[in-house]
Amino acid sequence: MAMQGPKTKALYERAKEKIPYGVNSNFRYWGDDDTLIIARGEGAYVWDVDGKRYIDYRLGFGPVILGHAYPSVIENVRKVVADGSVFAWTTPGEVELAERITRMTGVEMVRLSNTGTEATMHAQRLARSYTGRERYIKFEGAYHGMYDYALFSTASSNSTKLLGSRRSPRPAPASAGIPRRIDEYVIPLPYNDFEKLEETVAAHWHELAFILFEPIMGNAASIMPAPGFLEKIRELCDKYGIIMIMDEVKTGFRVANGGAQAYFGVEADLLTYAKAMGNGFPIAAIGGKRDILMSAQPGVFALGGTYTGNMVGVAAANATLKILENEPVIETINTRGEALMGGIAEILTRFGLPYQVFGPPPMFGVVISEKQPNDFRDFIASDTELSEAIFMELNHRGVQPDADNREPWFLCYSLSEADVAETLQIFEDSVTAVMKTWTPHKRSEAAD
Ligand SMILES: Cc1ncc(COP(=O)(O)O)c(C=O)c1O
Repeated sequence: MAMQGPKTKALYERAKEKIPYGVNSNFRYWGDDDTLIIARGEGAYVWDVDGKRYIDYRLGFGPVILGHAYPSVIENVRKVVADGSVFAWTTPGEVELAERITRMTGVEMVRLSNTGTEATMHAQRLARSYTGRERYIKFEGAYHGMYDYALFSTASSNSTKLLGSRRSPRPAPASAGIPRRIDEYVIPLPYNDFEKLEETVAAHWHELAFILFEPIMGNAASIMPAPGFLEKIRELCDKYGIIMIMDEVKTGFRVANGGAQAYFGVEADLLTYAKAMGNGFPIAAIGGKRDILMSAQPGVFALGGTYTGNMVGVAAANATLKILENEPVIETINTRGEALMGGIAEILTRFGLPYQVFGPPPMFGVVISEKQPNDFRDFIASDTELSEAIFMELNHRGVQPDADNREPWFLCYSLSEADVAETLQIFEDSVTAVMKTWTPHKRSEAAD
C-alpha cells in the first residue's frame, strides 16, 4: 500500500517533472509511491496535502525542538522581518544571540552560519589553519554535512565492503562525484574503539589537525559513546595538540540546554550547532575556544557568507533559546521520551523480538538486535528490514518516525501525554500487523 493519497500522488507527479526525484534533499526520497508532500505542521503534528495527520517523530530531521509553527517563534520572526532581512552589518539580534549561546553552552565565542554543513566545513578549515596540519579522524556512521571533505564513511556508506575491515577501515565515499584524492585527508575509525583510536593518533598525530565526531551518533540510531570514550578523545587531543571538534548539530539544544558537552561533561575545542537552535529555521553556529575563533582574522582566514546572521534565522534562534532557558523544555521532552521508550520496549518484549531501545529520550534509537550497537558496523548487522517494516506500518497508521532507523526518534516540547499513548497503541497495532505475515529475509551482508 502506497503512503501517497490521491492529491499527494498528483502533486508528486508534478514535482517529479521539475525537481529531480520530486525532492530538494535526497534524504527525503522514500520512493515514487511513499514520498510525501506536506501541507503544514502544528505542534507535534504534520498534515499531508490529502489532509492525513501524522504524529511527527522526524521533526524535519531533528530541528523542531518546540513544535511546528511554535507561536512565540513565529511571532518573533514576523516582528523582525518587517525591519528587513540582511544588511551586511552586525545587527542587535546577533549580539543577543551570541550572548545566549555562550551563556547556555559555555563556548567562549561564536560565529553564525546557516546550516550544519557550513558550520562543520568552517570548523574544519579553522582547525587546519590553527594547527597547520591537514588530515583528520572521523568515525564510521557519523554524518557532518554535504561537502566533499566530510562525505566519507557516513551512515550512507552502509556497506562493509566499502568500509573495509574493522582492523583497517577505509574511507568510503558516501556519494558519486567526490574527487578521489580527497580521501587522503580522512582517517575513518569505528566509534568507541579505544585501542584503534590511541594507536592511530600515536601513529599520525603530526599530520592530524582535528578529530571530528558526533558525541551521540544522531545519524546512526543514536549510538552512545562508551563510558570514557569522549574523555579519551579529549586526552589524546590535549597530548598531541589536535583540535577536538564536537559536532552538536543534532545534539545541541536537544539533549540538554548546554548540548552534549554539558550532558557528558566533556569540553571540546570547537563545536558546531544548528537544528534545534532555530526550531526549524535555517541557522547554525560555530563556537569554541577564544584563541581558535580569534584566529579567523579578516584578511587571513575565510569565514562568513551573505546570509550568515540574517534577521530571520537570528530571530527564530533568539525566540527558541529564550524558551529553552525559561521553560522546562528538555525535562518535559525527557518525561515523554522515557514513557515512549519504556512502552516500545515493553511491546517488543511481549512479541519476543530481540531489540534495543537506547540513547537520550529527546533523540532515541530503536534497533532489532540482540546487541546494543557500539559502532556503525554493529548497527549494519541489526535487522533493518524488520524495523523498516514496523516503522512503515506506523507511518501508514499516522505515526511518523523515519522508516530508516538510522534516524533516531526525535521528540518536541509540544508532544503531549495523549500523543505518547496514541503512539504506543499504534506501535502495538503495527507490530501485530507486521508479525502476522513476517518471514525473516536472508540478510545479504554481514558486518565483520
Ligand atoms: C551531526 C550533523 N552534522 C552536520 C549536519 C549537516 O547539517 P545541515 O543539513 O544543516 O547542512 C547534519 C545533518 O543532519 C548532522 O546530523
